[in-house]
Amino acid sequence: MSTVKFFSGEDVPLEMHKVRIVQKLNLPPVDYRLKAITEAGNNTFLLQNRDVFMDMLTDSGVNAMSDQQQAAMLVADDSYAGSETYNRLETKLREIFGLHYFLPTHQGRAAENILSQVLVKAGMIVPMNYHFTTTKAHITLNGGSVEEIITDAGLEVTSEHPFKGNMDIGKLTALVEQHGRDKIAFVRMEAGTNLIGGQPFSLQNLADIRQVCDRYNLLLVLDASLLADNLYFIKEREERCKSLSIREITRQMAALCDIIYFSARKLGCARGGGICLKTEELYRKMRGLVPLYEGFLTYGGMSVREMEALTVGLEETMDEDMINQGPQFIRYMVDELVKRGIPVITPAGGLGCHLNAMEFLRHVPQSQYPAGALASALYIASGIRGMERGTLSEQRDPDGNEVFANMELLRLALPRRVFTLSQVKYAIDRITWLHENRGLVGGLEFIEEPEILRFFYGRLKPISGWQEKLLARFQQDFGDSL
Ligand code: F0G
Repeated sequence: MSTVKFFSGEDVPLEMHKVRIVQKLNLPPVDYRLKAITEAGNNTFLLQNRDVFMDMLTDSGVNAMSDQQQAAMLVADDSYAGSETYNRLETKLREIFGLHYFLPTHQGRAAENILSQVLVKAGMIVPMNYHFTTTKAHITLNGGSVEEIITDAGLEVTSEHPFKGNMDIGKLTALVEQHGRDKIAFVRMEAGTNLIGGQPFSLQNLADIRQVCDRYNLLLVLDASLLADNLYFIKEREERCKSLSIREITRQMAALCDIIYFSARKLGCARGGGICLKTEELYRKMRGLVPLYEGFLTYGGMSVREMEALTVGLEETMDEDMINQGPQFIRYMVDELVKRGIPVITPAGGLGCHLNAMEFLRHVPQSQYPAGALASALYIASGIRGMERGTLSEQRDPDGNEVFANMELLRLALPRRVFTLSQVKYAIDRITWLHENRGLVGGLEFIEEPEILRFFYGRLKPISGWQEKLLARFQQDFGDSL
């Protein structure tokens, strides 16, 4: 993909695959879209998929599978214990990561549950480059707390820094010195740092963290859910890795870690998860929880068909032509939006294109959830479903005060190999229209606010009826067009 130049000089992300199965989409009319988002409490999680044109909510469990993955599903060995399918998966993970032990889980957060139950005790701290929602929830549920020690560059929304997911090594050392090593449950690095715009860390940064972990005898845990994107960026952007294969980079990364866990809803383009461990001691500590929460040790809540697809998907992750489609489509979308003066996270990361709602809706205060309001407005304007990644995705503090997020983002995920370039162009077009009319968009307030992970099923309403005005402007500008 990256090596194909167009005669025209145009920078076009060219797909190295073809589409062989399609799903028909529905684009409901704009007045229907307003009704649908109202019924969904202005929460895009509560929309019905039949009412969504481009589902950019997430890449989780919705990446396109390859023909080889589909074919492998047919030869799955359906047995509760000792399945050949499981053996193939375990062998593939050992081959790719070089860590000997594996525990299967039904998805990524299930791995986080087990890790947190075993490693986090009351009062303990988990330093990390940045949190993910479910990760933080499991750590705090077990009495621990999260310390985000991302480098300052990570929180700059617009930047040219190639590795905004890096951890600040000085802050890590200071944190361990301040609290003492016994208070540190483990050090966690998240590949393709989700909540700050799918930003990668460098291999060098991971090696530096390993040195600190060795000095204080700390465990280094890698959340590899978004590893594919991070691997691509390391190969593209890190000078010393340019001549290495994706497989070699993966091996070098894994050799630095004690534990690697992942959501296979992202990594490997299937559905499931698991924990790879370096030592038998760690494996034995966690093993008992797998049959309790997940299922027997040779499936851990995954279907055998998904395990077969995952085994093939992991191997395909080692192929640069398979993992570059997502980041290159995202870069195309980000570049086009930047050209139009629309605020997005730069440089383009993995996972999706992230609109900076704090800037896009500068007139909407954080207490009125600008990223949530933008998600609602974009659905009305386009039938596109994005995901709020801002204050709504945070939890209130123990006194019930709002915790304002560092960034107010509307994440528009590009599940791997799912959308065509004309659909991406449609998204760019409707976002541009919305940006022109951003003054019409107002804030949101809760009607129903759950205590835990409120963004999943909380319900909100618009403050001062702005949605009708947006609808009227759309109808005025687009006439009969959907
Ligand atoms: N870690 C990271 C970095 C993730 O992005 C996710 C899920 C998980 C852990 C949990 O994995 O969903 O399989 O239980 N991210 C999804 C998303 C939900 O939409 O970004 P899971």
